[in-house]
Amino acid sequence: MKDYIKKYKSRIDKNIKNLSNQTIILNGATGGIGSSVSEFLSYLHNDLVLLARNLKEGDKLKKRLEEKYHNKIEIVYFDYLDKNILIESLNKIKNYAKPTYFLNISGIYHQPYSLTNGIEKTYLVNYLMPSFYIKELLNVFPDIKVTVVSSITSSFKVKTSNEIYSSSNNFINYLNSIKNKTKRYGISKHLLMSYLIKLKKEFNYDIRFTHPGVCATNLFDKKNKAYPKLFYYFVPQLMKIIFMPKDKAALSILLTANKESIKDGNWIGPRGLFKAWGYPKEYKYSTNIKDDHLNSLIYTLTEEFNQK
Ligand SMILES: NC(=O)c1ccc[n+]([C@@H]2O[C@H](COP(=O)([O-])OP(=O)(O)OC[C@H]3O[C@@H](n4cnc5c(N)ncnc54)[C@H](OP(=O)(O)O)[C@@H]3O)[C@@H](O)[C@H]2O)c1
Repeated sequence: MKDYIKKYKSRIDKNIKNLSNQTIILNGATGGIGSSVSEFLSYLHNDLVLLARNLKEGDKLKKRLEEKYHNKIEIVYFDYLDKNILIESLNKIKNYAKPTYFLNISGIYHQPYSLTNGIEKTYLVNYLMPSFYIKELLNVFPDIKVTVVSSITSSFKVKTSNEIYSSSNNFINYLNSIKNKTKRYGISKHLLMSYLIKLKKEFNYDIRFTHPGVCATNLFDKKNKAYPKLFYYFVPQLMKIIFMPKDKAALSILLTANKESIKDGNWIGPRGLFKAWGYPKEYKYSTNIKDDHLNSLIYTLTEEFNQK
């Protein structure tokens, strides 16, 4: 494996001062960007609680990092498609010494259309269950600093007709009616941000957003079977050549969590062309996510749904 710690060491040593000797909870660590984040955090002497769906991969990562960095890593079973598992994982986390950071890295994209309990899966994994989980976690640890991994596609506009927002059923029907994968992905990221912006305002929680840029990860894995086989022969290889490595994408997440504070309306992501390649910096996120009235409507419907 390429030693990317070496490549970014001086940048990390210079810029990441707060994320050291902490207890950090994160999900998505078994994925491309998340495994890089976990490695950087281990290098910085943090103890980690990895919320993992794939326990075999989680254990492999734990073993590798503990051997290399001598930090403490716990694995807790976690699946955004199973609310009971989420509640169980929260009960386990309550017993840990006070964690200071939570990184929500889990996410799905490029998946075939699939309804779970009547809701398209992308919304459950990227928006509804994270909104439930993050709120519950903040109930237990109100001072924890939450970093949420979003995407540049969160700038997709959500429809604003009154009918859609008149009931959670109409809202879910609207979401399920979107057949384009990229649009579903972008809207799921938009809705999570809208919900959390309002939650942050209501309770004065520390919640930050980042988008990591574009890189080839398991997000584009052939096991997702979202496209014809030919797609998987060419596109992921091509992406590896064109876009940045996942370890560089991880830097945006580290910088976001590390900052003392981030201005309301700003997030952290790569600088430069299409904001997809460069080193991270703070700048404004899309005005589409800044509509307070719409964010309040989304918040109310999300709460209604999550209390069911
Ligand atoms: N790669 C990019 O170009 C890009 C661009 C913008 C934003 N992002 C965002 O970056 C984050 C990390 O993505 P990645 O590129 O590293 O993708 P990845 O390699 O596919 O990793 C995704 C992670 O999410 C986890 N996950 C998937 N479904 C889950 C579920 N039901 N419950 C809990 N965890 C689940 C996966 O766990 P398993 O190992 O069990 O599958 C994996 O750890 C995502 O939020 C993604 O939307 C990525």
